[in-house]
Amino acid sequence: MTQSANKNKKLYIKTWGCQMNVYDSHRMADILSAQGYKAVDSPEDADMVILNTCHIREKATDKVFSDLGRLRPLKEAKEAKGEKMLMAVAGCVAQAEGEFILERAPYVDMVFGPQTYHELPEMIIKASGERVVNTEFPAQSKFDSLPEEHTSQGVSAFVSIQEGCDKFCTFCVVPYTRGSEYSRPVQKIVDECKKLVDNGTLEITLLGQNVNAFHGEGPDGNVWGLGKLIEEVAKIESLARIRYTTSHPRDMDEALIEMHALPKLMPFLHLPVQSGSDKILEAMNRKHTSNHFRDIIEKLRKARPDLAFSSDFIVGFPGESDQDFEDTMQLVRDVNFASCYSFKYSARPGTPAANMQGLIHDKIASERLARLQALINEQQRSFNESTIGQTLPVLFDRKGKREGQLVGRSPFNQSVYIEGNPRLMNTIQDIKITEGFDNSLTGEIVTNESILRI
Ligand code: SAH
Ligand code: SF4
Ligand code: F3S
Repeated sequence: MTQSANKNKKLYIKTWGCQMNVYDSHRMADILSAQGYKAVDSPEDADMVILNTCHIREKATDKVFSDLGRLRPLKEAKEAKGEKMLMAVAGCVAQAEGEFILERAPYVDMVFGPQTYHELPEMIIKASGERVVNTEFPAQSKFDSLPEEHTSQGVSAFVSIQEGCDKFCTFCVVPYTRGSEYSRPVQKIVDECKKLVDNGTLEITLLGQNVNAFHGEGPDGNVWGLGKLIEEVAKIESLARIRYTTSHPRDMDEALIEMHALPKLMPFLHLPVQSGSDKILEAMNRKHTSNHFRDIIEKLRKARPDLAFSSDFIVGFPGESDQDFEDTMQLVRDVNFASCYSFKYSARPGTPAANMQGLIHDKIASERLARLQALINEQQRSFNESTIGQTLPVLFDRKGKREGQLVGRSPFNQSVYIEGNPRLMNTIQDIKITEGFDNSLTGEIVTNESILRI
């Protein structure tokens, strides 16, 4: 009766949204690998398809239904051969709109939220008899029952250390889709990092919706913050690089700021601010001001002078005046970012901002977004150009589109393209940066003896 009897089942997972979803997709593949499923790159002929979805903005949600429509004929083709394709919707859309998905897409077999995927083996058995909906927030954390072994992460890996959010920014669905804040115990995290490093991982990104709100139980019985956790993870000898994302300005404490002097902690920090207007920040319930954000940036730059920053911005939030928007532009000028994400406000059902007065006309929001993005692009390009001529250690983790091309990441999270021997994949090499573009750099290997030997 065991599902694992058939070792050759094909699993296709498509992932949208944040890195937490990317991590979750890896972990689902790990769980299902023990059930005989092997990950494949195309949904055709797959025995199971999982759409791991994002609910953050309206557009993200719409994509799920258009994808489901495209997958349906593939499922029917499989059924015409007398076989089955289990179709599952996971992630934050599943959490928020579970019943609606089942209604609108009758061919979907399973709908489950981000906190329940460790129950996949049981859900699959159940799905052979009935449609499954699982959008509970179970009392026991999923982390307690995930497999210890990772089968699907490479030289640069994610480790979830914290999940959920208690901040309730008025525009955001995350507190509703991911539930309340939970931090994993320090020892479990360190053990997971060690396993990854033993299997060749050189870079670990510690993940959480509010990663710097981390307060996990330490091996000494005390509560540890993120700074102390990073210090502990950095002791893993063969681990070369540590990153963490996503942080909230409110939780940037002194211990964490000081930890940025640690060489293994990469000099690039994503710190979403959303707006430069104190009026809008208050309406967003961010509980920090624009000057508080400026102060944090200054302190961080003191701890690590070469630290580069990225952020998230929302334009066209209800009530955003021209002056509020200009305050955002000024903040961007003051900080000088290495890169940023910016979005038009999207009203999400069930969030407080969805009922706010003062809607901004789409045309105005689009104009503001274009101006903000032009400024951000300018800063990003000049940051990239400022690295020309420098020699940066680059971790190569991808092949480029062109034959012989390798792609890696600089310490500042820039994509770096080189022509190089494929044997350099999964290694860190000193690269002299030769050109800087909007979204990438090109470089050359700095020839030294060890390279010549390769
Ligand atoms: N936890 C992170 C980010 C979560 S979502 C934080 O605290 O900042 C990622 C980004 O999506 C947010 O930073 C925000 O800029 C954007 N976002 C979230 N909800 C949105 C909405 N309703 N409309 C537009 N952008 C949104
Ligand atoms: Fe959403 Fe705010 Fe929580 Fe970030 S801190 S996940 S933006 S509610
Ligand atoms: Fe999207 Fe859920 Fe992440 S809504 S951004 S996938 S937490």
